[in-house]
Amino acid sequence: MSATKLARGGAAAAALTLCSGLLILASTSANAAPGCSVDYRVNQWDTGFTANVTLNNLGDAISGGWTLEWDFPGNQKITNGWSATFAQSGQHVSAKNPSWSPTLPTGASATIGFNASYSGANATPPSFKLNGTTCSGGPTTTTSTSTSTSTSTSTSTTTTTTTTTTTPGQPGEHLANPYVGAKGYLNPDYVANVNSLADATGGALGTSMRKVAQNSTAVWMDRIGAITAGRGLTGHLDEALRQSSGGTPVVIQVVVYDLPNRDCAALASNGELKVGENGLARYKAEYIDPIAAILADPKYRDLRIVGIIEPDSLPNLVTNLSKPKCAEANSSGAYVQGIQYALNKLSAIPNVYNYVDIGHSGWLGWDSNMGPSVQLIANTIKGTTKGVNSVDGFVSNMANTSPTDEPNLPDPNLNVGSQQLRSATFYQWNPYFDEADFGTEMRNRFISAGFPSGIGMLIDTSRNGWGGPNRPTGASGSTVDAYVNSGRIDRKLHRGNWCNQAGSGIGERPTAAPRAGFDAYVWIKPPGESDGIATKTDGPNEEGKQHDPMCDPAFRGDEQANGRNLTGAMAGAPHAGSWFPAGFTSLVQNAYPAL
Ligand code: GLC
Repeated sequence: MSATKLARGGAAAAALTLCSGLLILASTSANAAPGCSVDYRVNQWDTGFTANVTLNNLGDAISGGWTLEWDFPGNQKITNGWSATFAQSGQHVSAKNPSWSPTLPTGASATIGFNASYSGANATPPSFKLNGTTCSGGPTTTTSTSTSTSTSTSTSTTTTTTTTTTTPGQPGEHLANPYVGAKGYLNPDYVANVNSLADATGGALGTSMRKVAQNSTAVWMDRIGAITAGRGLTGHLDEALRQSSGGTPVVIQVVVYDLPNRDCAALASNGELKVGENGLARYKAEYIDPIAAILADPKYRDLRIVGIIEPDSLPNLVTNLSKPKCAEANSSGAYVQGIQYALNKLSAIPNVYNYVDIGHSGWLGWDSNMGPSVQLIANTIKGTTKGVNSVDGFVSNMANTSPTDEPNLPDPNLNVGSQQLRSATFYQWNPYFDEADFGTEMRNRFISAGFPSGIGMLIDTSRNGWGGPNRPTGASGSTVDAYVNSGRIDRKLHRGNWCNQAGSGIGERPTAAPRAGFDAYVWIKPPGESDGIATKTDGPNEEGKQHDPMCDPAFRGDEQANGRNLTGAMAGAPHAGSWFPAGFTSLVQNAYPAL
């Protein structure tokens, strides 16, 4: 027994327990030889643990259902489980196959899991039985032993290390970083939009456009209908399976975005569900339940599915409670309970990885926002069944344009004209100028708040490039404002501007493990899809979307949103989520790194 590979979210010590034994095939009758091995992995904290149990059938094929049984050696008590029906009586546990999966061919495995409480020791069950027969086969592990000898004049020492490893990416295994070793899903619908515009554009620009289509973008489940309409969620997952047929695993990002009172501080992405119209119950039953049922289909278990959880929602409860729809989302508990429900359902599926939205540097960077944000987001997650282990990390800058780095302004405390850079008009004392610094600090704070040290951050870099001819290469000037305005690559007119920003460009390409603490740069907002309609509408469209003045290039009127600056929005944009060719062209022209 040995522990080497920490499951994501585990306590640092004793996070993984792997039981092995010799392979012995027992036989009960001439025509049905049972044989099995069990891989029992535990991820534990003081009072509880999550176990992932992989059952390997080493005997004859099972067609009429299976039951795995064991006795806990201590006072472990299962609180809930997944991918099997669990029953516990005293120390005895039985886990029966899910009704949709009664068969287990020879050589096949089933992964089930559960959460449990315990006190004292959390020893591994000494044995397991499959359909009444004790499992005595060895688990799927590889063992490597290395021996090193060091000799001095008088002594000779031999050190032997034994490591047990599992092959990463096995079905049912939850990896530390799902992006490593995987290729990103290419959404054919998005690729078609890009390539047809590239064809129509031609020339060098058309060639650059085509390169965008080679990068993975997220699939947005932005209404109940999106689950089934068009390609639908199943169609995307089937296509992802097809894209993984060469053997490289595929990571597909699914944005969960349909809370009641969605986009409560703005109008552009208002949704179909309302708190006052039974929205939370509908969100659970008509939206999360069907999504979870599809994602849990065993045929998708080799996909690495990333759940991107509810853009803008909890940050709005920190900074925008003065807006009635946010106040209602808060007082009703709809946002918090909706997210907890989504996390409970999605974290029960071993190959789903959840990342929760944390706004961006230009929104939550002030200490007065960051502290309460971490508290609210942490408490929301801690209120789920798996607690801090229901997420794999956090995602910043979703659909926003805050840069990953401000290369000419690395030190917010630098004094220019005896003033700190952070005191400049553009930064308003916010000490976080970019997503790398912001994400790093948020990560540290979540870890301090009890999250595992392995949590990973994502940055949406799809539109934060700020290249093109206006990109500064240095900073100069004798006042903080002159210095900051000459040096910042973020060319927004005000940091609060967010809709279809003129001059923004495609940012870093999706990249796995780009820097310490970050699981990936990702493209969540598909470049070229609008943030909101530029002109006034008579009311919401059929999805609930409306005109927000922040999408009107001529609007200059909101003190809180953008200090009464112009919005910087591009003219002519359609409703949020619709394809906006002029917006795409501008993003390609301003890409950094250039395409
Ligand atoms: C916006 C829209 C949403 C769309 C997404 C991606 O948030 O409201 O419908 O799917 O952007 O473009």
